[in-house]
Amino acid sequence: MDKLVEQNTSSPITVKKTGVNLSAEISDIDLTQPMDDATFEAVDAALVEHEVIVFRDQEISSENLIDFGRRFGELTVHPFSPNDGDRPYLILFKNDENNPPFGTDCWHSDETFRECPPMATVLCAKDVPEVGGDTMFASMSAAFDGLSDRMQQFISGLEAVHDFKVFKNLFGESEEDRKNLIEYELRYPPQVQPVVRVHPVSGKKVLWVNPQFTIAIKGMDERESRSLLDTLFHQALIPEYQYRHKWRNHTIVMWDNRSVQHYAVHDYYPSRRFMERVTIEGDKPVGVPAADPDSLRKFKFHAKTGSDSHGGHTAPKRQFQRELDAG
Ligand SMILES: [Fe+2]
Repeated sequence: MDKLVEQNTSSPITVKKTGVNLSAEISDIDLTQPMDDATFEAVDAALVEHEVIVFRDQEISSENLIDFGRRFGELTVHPFSPNDGDRPYLILFKNDENNPPFGTDCWHSDETFRECPPMATVLCAKDVPEVGGDTMFASMSAAFDGLSDRMQQFISGLEAVHDFKVFKNLFGESEEDRKNLIEYELRYPPQVQPVVRVHPVSGKKVLWVNPQFTIAIKGMDERESRSLLDTLFHQALIPEYQYRHKWRNHTIVMWDNRSVQHYAVHDYYPSRRFMERVTIEGDKPVGVPAADPDSLRKFKFHAKTGSDSHGGHTAPKRQFQRELDAG
């Protein structure tokens, strides 16, 4: 059996890992049917472990999508997304020549401008272009692990301010629009979030700042804050932490919004792209305390060369080392 496929005879589903740091495909499941407890637990565990899970060839209705999402918790209503009138927790992204996509081609976790951002988002492809319109994901737990020990120590215990700034562009210049914007600013004031959050299930440390909603590091002047945020935002751009999803109709992707960022690639206009989405309520993020300097590990990528009298790790010699040895 493929070693990337989990061999668990008690699991009712098959989980195939598709990326080193994130993503897996789940098969042997029919999402037109309610999930029994064992199936739900297996899917929930796969979400936490792989951060992005993909279900192919699931021709489901909007009600099926809503039922699937509700199995994980209460569905939330996005204040600025195009919602279905009678079912505001169902988001309808209907983009075409007359309705260009807005505001999702920027790295982000969903709705971090809220006190309790969603725990997960489920997106279902109804009608997608032949090429283009992929969604990029980045594991922010892997991104945190990839920072140097010094940077991890430095940012532990810091807090950042998140704001719905991108959606302010949806409001016009009229007096009524400005009044409405003030109303929304009062309803959704900026939120202070930990820069490093602890995943409530896995316990992994997650880099929890994103360029769409994070506007400042608390307690720093603007130049310091901008410089640090730029460095941290860059982590999502590193290919090793990414998974790029190519959609087909009737594919469903669920991501753990507590540990991944995503970016909807806007290269398909004026083609039609129709997606449905539900979002599941999450907890208030909990941060890590400021680091104890004594807890610093040795520099993790230091590779010793040649023989090691202490019995430690040895690495193959490089050409210049062999030439030095040869005299
Ligand atoms: Fe999003």
